[in-house]
Amino acid sequence: MQKLRIGVLGSGKGSNFRAIRDAITGGRIEAEVAVVVSDVVGAGILQLADETGIKSVTVVDQRYKTRLAAEKEEELVAILREARVDLVVLAGYMRMVKAPLLEAFPRRIINIHPSLLPKFPGLEAWRQALEAGEKTAGCTVHYVDAGMDTGEIIAWAEVPVLPEDTAETLHARIQVEEHRIYPAVVQRFALGELP
Ligand code: GRF
Repeated sequence: MQKLRIGVLGSGKGSNFRAIRDAITGGRIEAEVAVVVSDVVGAGILQLADETGIKSVTVVDQRYKTRLAAEKEEELVAILREARVDLVVLAGYMRMVKAPLLEAFPRRIINIHPSLLPKFPGLEAWRQALEAGEKTAGCTVHYVDAGMDTGEIIAWAEVPVLPEDTAETLHARIQVEEHRIYPAVVQRFALGELP
């Protein structure tokens, strides 16, 4: 059987991509990263791809911060199609996904968000949880739809919020769980357990 081909999109340091990449290398995911795409020139995630010999591409759009213009998103779709991507994995991708990408990969785009959705969608969710006085925080993997962090939930993990926590310590604790559950979800796709 053909291995699942993944396209990873990210804007930042790429620690979730690293976790997935290492799970593939370690034989815990039967898939292949076909391409890594970033909207940020020089993003850490691109360097991580380069150091493993994975194809990396940048699609920049200076006009908008929170989405790509339609023609830029078409460019992104063309890159993913050319790489014969089966599953699009958002790993710290900081733009909303719009119609061109959603329609090209129906129910084949997933995201990880650093909160227990539906609580705290949007930016710096760990800080939102801390400021709201939550005792428990966590992360959620979900299908991506046109809303902000609203798609159907696939998996989640909880972490405690400790009295001495800062935004940074809480985010670090959440990321440990992200690096555990995101590769596990990708492996479920690889095994055909998820539609
Ligand atoms: C993670 O906290 C993820 O939940 C959110 O963006 C962050 C990406 O971190 N969507 P990294 O680039 O994978 O380290």
